[in-house]
Amino acid sequence: MDTATDAHTRRPNETHTMPMNALHMNAPARSLEGRVALVTGGARGIGRAIVDHLADLGATVGVLDLKKELADQAVTELTAQGHTAMAFGGNVAERDVIMDAAAALKSACGRFDIMVSNAMWVRYGPISELTPEMVRRMVGTGFESVIWGIQAAEAHMGEDGGSVINIASAAAFLGLQRGLTYAGVKAGVLGLTRAGAVDLGPRGIRVNAVCPGFTTTEGVMLNVTPEMVQKRLARTPMQRVGTPEDVARVAGFLASSASGFVTGEYIKVDGGATYAHL
Ligand SMILES: NC(=O)c1ccc[n+]([C@@H]2O[C@H](COP(=O)([O-])OP(=O)(O)OC[C@H]3O[C@@H](n4cnc5c(N)ncnc54)[C@H](O)[C@@H]3O)[C@@H](O)[C@H]2O)c1
Repeated sequence: MDTATDAHTRRPNETHTMPMNALHMNAPARSLEGRVALVTGGARGIGRAIVDHLADLGATVGVLDLKKELADQAVTELTAQGHTAMAFGGNVAERDVIMDAAAALKSACGRFDIMVSNAMWVRYGPISELTPEMVRRMVGTGFESVIWGIQAAEAHMGEDGGSVINIASAAAFLGLQRGLTYAGVKAGVLGLTRAGAVDLGPRGIRVNAVCPGFTTTEGVMLNVTPEMVQKRLARTPMQRVGTPEDVARVAGFLASSASGFVTGEYIKVDGGATYAHL
């Protein structure tokens, strides 16, 4: 889908020399110049890092968030850095919120190329404390929203196709303690990713997932104790926790033509934690 030069192919060793979080210093060439993206939950955490990275790669980015004032703030900051961005408010569990944002981007920019379904309302807890309201909220924001993102891609992406990126989780592969609904929702997202890839492949629309491991964001820190962080570290072969930028760089790859024949796939960004039995 992308005719622009992609620096991933020119500088294959870049990641070996890249300082850990130096996204802006080492942003690859503008491989997404002229592209238009929508990122849900884009106002903070992993979503915000994806917004910043896609903008650095040259994309115009729609920032959709429940907290419209935070989305507005992100757009102000991006604009000050010379990027083009638009803010949208709303709950991703509602189909129209996603469809309307994609339609508005298409109408404003003339195209829609990249759909990142990232937002989810998350709570962990014992099985006995799950309520129908909590389960509905997690399924609505984490699973149904991904369906609406795929539907928005089908409705609004153009003849040259596009890329859908669903943020799942390493929890999709784990029997996660206190995470019954979360693990189920994220495993379901991988199913949606595969089925979406099959249906939309003929349209040139790729559908892939990123599965972060433990990643330090404000949202995740609400759900974990310092002891849990230490436990995660001890189980991670790469001996550090993930950063939002780790996830954003992989999303940038899946958005770009460097991954042009990859669809229905997932990439874990977890420092090897899912495979470790330490
Ligand atoms: N942080 C981690 O360790 C981790 C690990 C694996 C997967 N993930 C996944 O990454 C995604 C982002 O996680 P995060 O840690 O950055 O979260 P976060 O809580 O830091 O940020 C989430 C953003 O989404 C917005 N949001 C929440 N509910 C929304 C809704 N209903 N509609 C619109 N916007 C909404 C929030 O306002 C916030 O800006 C989630 O899907 C999460 O499950 C996170």
